[in-house]
Amino acid sequence: MNRSVWIGLIGGLAVIGATLGGYALWQPEAQQTATMTVPAAAKTDGQGAYKEFVLEAKESNWVLKEGLEVPAWTYNGTVPGGQVRVTEGDRVKVVLNNSLSEPVSIHWHGYPVPNAMDGIPGVTQNAVKPGESFTYEFVATVPGTYWYHSHQDGANQVDRGLYGTLVVEPKQPTVTYDRDYTLVLDEWNPQMFGATAEKGKSSTDHSGHDRGNSNTGDGMDHSGHDMSGMSGEMTHDAMMKMMYNVYTVNGKAGSDIGRLEVTKGETVKLRFINAGFMRHRVHLQGQPYRITHTDGQAIADAPLLEGAEMFEIAPGERYDIEFVADGTPFTIDYHDEAEAARELKIPVVYTGDLKAVDREADGEANPALVDISRYGKGDAAAAQPIYDIEKHFVLDSKKDSNGNEVYTINGKTFPNTEQVNVKKGQQVKFTLTNPGTSDHPMHLHGHFFRVLSKDGKAVSGAPLLKDTLNVRPGETYEIAFTADNDGNWMLHCHDLHHAAAGMMTHVNYD
Ligand code: C2O
Ligand code: CU
Repeated sequence: MNRSVWIGLIGGLAVIGATLGGYALWQPEAQQTATMTVPAAAKTDGQGAYKEFVLEAKESNWVLKEGLEVPAWTYNGTVPGGQVRVTEGDRVKVVLNNSLSEPVSIHWHGYPVPNAMDGIPGVTQNAVKPGESFTYEFVATVPGTYWYHSHQDGANQVDRGLYGTLVVEPKQPTVTYDRDYTLVLDEWNPQMFGATAEKGKSSTDHSGHDRGNSNTGDGMDHSGHDMSGMSGEMTHDAMMKMMYNVYTVNGKAGSDIGRLEVTKGETVKLRFINAGFMRHRVHLQGQPYRITHTDGQAIADAPLLEGAEMFEIAPGERYDIEFVADGTPFTIDYHDEAEAARELKIPVVYTGDLKAVDREADGEANPALVDISRYGKGDAAAAQPIYDIEKHFVLDSKKDSNGNEVYTINGKTFPNTEQVNVKKGQQVKFTLTNPGTSDHPMHLHGHFFRVLSKDGKAVSGAPLLKDTLNVRPGETYEIAFTADNDGNWMLHCHDLHHAAAGMMTHVNYD
């Protein structure tokens, strides 16, 4: 398809965008890599109207970039899978049809669905076997940016592309955006699919994993993530950086990454979602912006940041940012230690002038990192309830008796980690400490938690609400939540290799 056809299509999308929110990544000549929305069928049942979406888990030969195709596992044939986009108040049904040869599920990451809809094989449902279907149902009451992914053998299935995005639009928006783009970050290890190694170094074999329902109560793979073929001296993080040598935005790498088109003066919303297992550091090259939401929830009094300030997005996290296009093109780029990460660049271009420009006016190699914990205001201590339950979790790693690196909570690996039993209505506080050397983006299912303090300093009186929090080496956070959603919920690291290797527990309601 040629350029003018795409310009025409984008014109059409911009019109749709006025009501739906434009969500596409624009591709100049190559195939469209947009995060397409899944069509919603308006239906009615005994309880009234609902919107129905159909997602088919299936294999798809997915081109990460020219010359690099992988047999990805997808929802509806694309990576990311189609966007499920609904409006606050909608009743939602999502029919999952499994056309893969492995059992799968859908977990609605960050969205507080009823427990039976949380998509955890062996805990909230049976894995959806090949040829089977399952219908997820919930009412979209909490606006925000979320995502979905398989929670069956997640370290493997999510790695292969089984994820997509969920956006709940507010019924009465306080800000209207001229552009609304969803940008899903991920990183790939093409060699796990047998692709020819570009750098010919790593050889991590995922094929030996048991992908059946492992029956350990979480749907993840506990067969032990065996990286013993790798150099014994390497840290887990170093190995990951070597293995994952292709970085993608909406499933595309390098020059196949599209451009974002804006017009001067427009208010642009970017929804960043990290579906990978590595953190990404994002920088806007001199274009001032605000971080308006994290994990879908609004940040109080979001300050205007210099483009020279970058934010970090850990596995599982979401950051919505907003900027008013100031007329100078720029590139959204990445500042991570990994060489491959630096190839991740999203040009932001202006209508009528589609040249991509590296705006290096601010030219710093290492822009300042925004500390999310500086948001919020007031005195957290004043607002603190009495906690019914307080737990301290130390997140670390060690070698098990076979010499494999395992990831631990208070020295134990799942299923031997301490589980937390709560009663509905209780106030629960966790202290999370990371004495090790790897990041641990901890994710609690079914709830938003308040971030109370970081390294002993109060974070927020207007609480920062999150569902995924990166506890970096040396850090300690206090978080708290109200037990308001009955069920049996996972708490785990969203480096899903760490989760599969032990860093996981449950919060159970009595
Ligand atoms: Cu996004 Cu338990 O996971
Ligand atoms: Cu971890």
